[in-house]
Amino acid sequence: MDLLKVSNLSTSFFTDAGEVKAVRGISFFLNEGKSLGLVGESGCGKSVTALSLINLVPYPGRIIAGNIFYRGKDLLQLESKNMLDVRGKEIAMIFQEPLTAFNPVFSIGSQVQEAILTHQKVSKKEALNKASKLLEDVGISQEGVIENYPHQLSGGMRQRAMIAMALSCDPSLLIADEPTTALDVTIQAQVLELISEIQKKRNMSMILITHDLGIVADRVEYLAIMYCGKIVEYSLAKELISKPLHPYTSGLIDSIPDISRREKPLRTIKGAVPSLLNLPKGCSFCDRCFMVDSLCRLQEPQLRDIGAGHMVACHRV
Ligand SMILES: Nc1ncnc2c1ncn2[C@@H]1O[C@H](COP(=O)(O)OP(=O)(O)OP(=O)(O)O)[C@@H](O)[C@H]1O
Ligand SMILES: [Mg+2]
Repeated sequence: MDLLKVSNLSTSFFTDAGEVKAVRGISFFLNEGKSLGLVGESGCGKSVTALSLINLVPYPGRIIAGNIFYRGKDLLQLESKNMLDVRGKEIAMIFQEPLTAFNPVFSIGSQVQEAILTHQKVSKKEALNKASKLLEDVGISQEGVIENYPHQLSGGMRQRAMIAMALSCDPSLLIADEPTTALDVTIQAQVLELISEIQKKRNMSMILITHDLGIVADRVEYLAIMYCGKIVEYSLAKELISKPLHPYTSGLIDSIPDISRREKPLRTIKGAVPSLLNLPKGCSFCDRCFMVDSLCRLQEPQLRDIGAGHMVACHRV
């Protein structure tokens, strides 16, 4: 069964300068135990999508259309108390900068313990045992870590502690928004590996958000490529990497540094992302596209299935 089914989700920010259409009618689904990578350049709407899923879009933003079904329940119709339950027990989120997610004046152990106490009916002692078990699961069971304060941990350890915190409610869906962007490359790989491992071991569903296609491509089962608030291509990850259909996806793949073919210069995608305040009439990628024709400038292409669940939004495919 679909764990998550998003249809036609649209979220805008109503600013003094006008309506910023951050998410423009996206649809996708995610089954139990499956993982999806949501990839796109900075500003394309990945974080706003994630915040929309848990109904936490900040002012002056608002979800203006669409449905989010979680185990068949429409999250957008839930009362805020029930939504709190979903956020606490079903869907957990981890962010880029874990320092802001922790309270600086409490130890890591007590914060994970507190998270457990909030969501589960257990004694303080049990919660503390669970907290140390979770910290062990994420690889920071060293002596003393449980008593450490957030600032005493390295970036990588802090991100591991944040993962422990997210797991404290035993979620069915984990949303990780650029969880490793702030880390060194080597630590980044370790933390991603940890997240993938935990996802598989717990049979959780996961949405892994990143601007770096290279780091998620072989860690998720499905990939969705976002551009200017829309999903422009969606398919099994292997298929999308080996047979990209959208010119933007091809551009992203060509710009992944590949040490083994060092002799080739890295290719970049020419041009800049248009403003979400003032999008072109047709395809939002048309000004950067090498395949553009007159239809592309007139009509925005819709995401369509071109076979075996490979979806693409491009007139020229
Ligand atoms: N509070 C806000 N007020 C106005 N516009 C906003 C606000 N938050 C986000 N936006 C706009 O929504 C768009 C999508 O932002 P979002 O944070 O989802 O991008 P992103 O894909 O997560 O980028 P990044 O890779 O940099 O994290 C951006 O163009 C941004 O300017
Ligand atoms: Mg973001």
